[in-house]
Amino acid sequence: MCGIVGYIGKRNATPIIVEGLKRLEYRGYDSAGLAINKDGKLHIYKAVGKITDLERSLPEPNVTFSNIGIGHTRWATHGKPNKTNAHPHTGQYGKIALVHNGIIENYKQLRQKLTTEGHQFNTETDTEVLAHLVEYFIEKEQDFTSGVQKALKLVEGTFGIAVIHTDYPENIVAARKGSPLILGIGNEEFFITSDVAAIIIHTKKVIYLKDGEVVNLNHEKFEITTLDNEAVKAKISEVDWDVSSIEKGDYEHFMLKEIYEQVTSVENAFRGRLMNKLSTARLGGLNITGNELRKVKKIQIIGCGTSWHAALIGKNMIESLARIPVEVEYASEYRYRNPIIPEDTLVFVISQSGETADTLAALREAQARGAKVLGITNVVGSTIARESDGGVYIHAGAEIGVASTKAFTSQVTVLCLLALILGRMKHLSAQYGIKFLKEIKRIPQKIEKVLNLNEEIERIAATIKDSKNALYLGRGMHYPVALEGALKLKEISYIHAEGYPAAEMKHGPIALIDEKMPVVAIALKDAIYDKIISNLQEVKARNGHIIAIATEGDENIKDLAEHVIYIPETMDIFQPLLSVVPLQLLAYHVAHLRGFNVDQPRNLAKSVTVE
Ligand code: M6R
Repeated sequence: MCGIVGYIGKRNATPIIVEGLKRLEYRGYDSAGLAINKDGKLHIYKAVGKITDLERSLPEPNVTFSNIGIGHTRWATHGKPNKTNAHPHTGQYGKIALVHNGIIENYKQLRQKLTTEGHQFNTETDTEVLAHLVEYFIEKEQDFTSGVQKALKLVEGTFGIAVIHTDYPENIVAARKGSPLILGIGNEEFFITSDVAAIIIHTKKVIYLKDGEVVNLNHEKFEITTLDNEAVKAKISEVDWDVSSIEKGDYEHFMLKEIYEQVTSVENAFRGRLMNKLSTARLGGLNITGNELRKVKKIQIIGCGTSWHAALIGKNMIESLARIPVEVEYASEYRYRNPIIPEDTLVFVISQSGETADTLAALREAQARGAKVLGITNVVGSTIARESDGGVYIHAGAEIGVASTKAFTSQVTVLCLLALILGRMKHLSAQYGIKFLKEIKRIPQKIEKVLNLNEEIERIAATIKDSKNALYLGRGMHYPVALEGALKLKEISYIHAEGYPAAEMKHGPIALIDEKMPVVAIALKDAIYDKIISNLQEVKARNGHIIAIATEGDENIKDLAEHVIYIPETMDIFQPLLSVVPLQLLAYHVAHLRGFNVDQPRNLAKSVTVE
């Protein structure tokens, strides 16, 4: 949730770190700081607010010139977002600066122990305790790496850390457990970061550190060990993200850019995966044989937030195409229940970032119970991608906007393919497969058609921007789309919004409807069209302000809705890929018109790596 950037090499570390932190600002944006090692002394700079506030507070470049430094952008967990609590933190003797992502669960006990040794603390944060502990052991061991190893062995919780020390002015030591950390390999320079977005303008060669690994770097070489000091031979990977994917280009916000990118990101999710001859699809990384798949009697899909909504759509698709029962679970609930995983159950975890703490814990829980767990992720090399027994990348490219958009449609696309594969293995006809493959190829251009409605949607957004509440209705597969539309609106515009199965409305929420309540209804021409029309009549009778997402050519809906957003006709299974787009644009424009920072909504972080 926070971001780490470290640099060691021949260039000036400060601007590289500041630039990297700006690229990670989507991960945490309440305060930031950096530390450099210069002339045997640590220089630490911190600021509350944005990275630009930190940048403004820095002295002249010659003062901050150093070849080694670490920086951090924070999303507060322990302690208020203020300058004192911002990272880097120092130890008792002022020799180290440490930045940390994660949570140290036993920090109170560690703090107590250190206090009895005479340590004094300036903050209530877990990170300051970690800094004291690490510094204490480096002093005791008289060695940078083994001091860090010894200290971390006492720690319970999660961490990605980077440390500099005045006695070791040419080294950075970094380590991880449960929080991502990546080593970037440049030409006589190295980077350490929690997210490749911070460093891909410098290098695409990376090593994804594994849990319990410690790396010691100087500008010439690096050495990776375990916490028990065993040498690790790590694999160097090549990041396939383009630099343009982490830049806004001509767009005002990443969210808008990413909404527009869906024309290509959806295509990337199915490209190379369609098997025309067999009228099915192929998902190479699943690491499961056809026979094993055929034996699957039940599927569980686990995720959080938007990924959970994609999973609900997946359930609908898989059940209708393959007739395999699917349970969708919130990862945060699953991990603390006593989940039942019957034999022949296949578990999927779905996560854009691949780092969501609850989803990762659910994955481990399911694996511990003997289940085969497959991951559907976007970020290559992420912890979930690595720990799953197989999986699929959605290939959406970097998603920077905190409100997930293109990852959602890419997840749904992959789930469509999965439903087709499973269906074709059972009783789905080749004719259906042919129709499916033909139509999925048309989806990108149909999304483009929906995006052309942007201005019209902006005008509609202006009519609801001052609302206090909003209701999103849908039935069947459109219900999770309604949930997703409501989530988009609430997370960036701070308008209370609820998604509801349309027919359930009369069992309660109907009491809320009056002339001030916008009701966004997904009322597409499908088998249950007439049902949702009846639900909308109930809304209209109570003066609700209806905005309908309807199928092109549906003139009747105009009698009910004040505003109609028409989307192209498609097969039922692909409708969510089109219907969600106007909802994303609606939320974007409402938030923008209300004057909010669309890409960095308050209190939210892009990837939730704490419980
Ligand atoms: O990276 P993940 O897909 O695991 O993230 C799950 C949720 O935290 C995420 O979808 C969140 O709900 C977004 N802010 C939604 O826009």
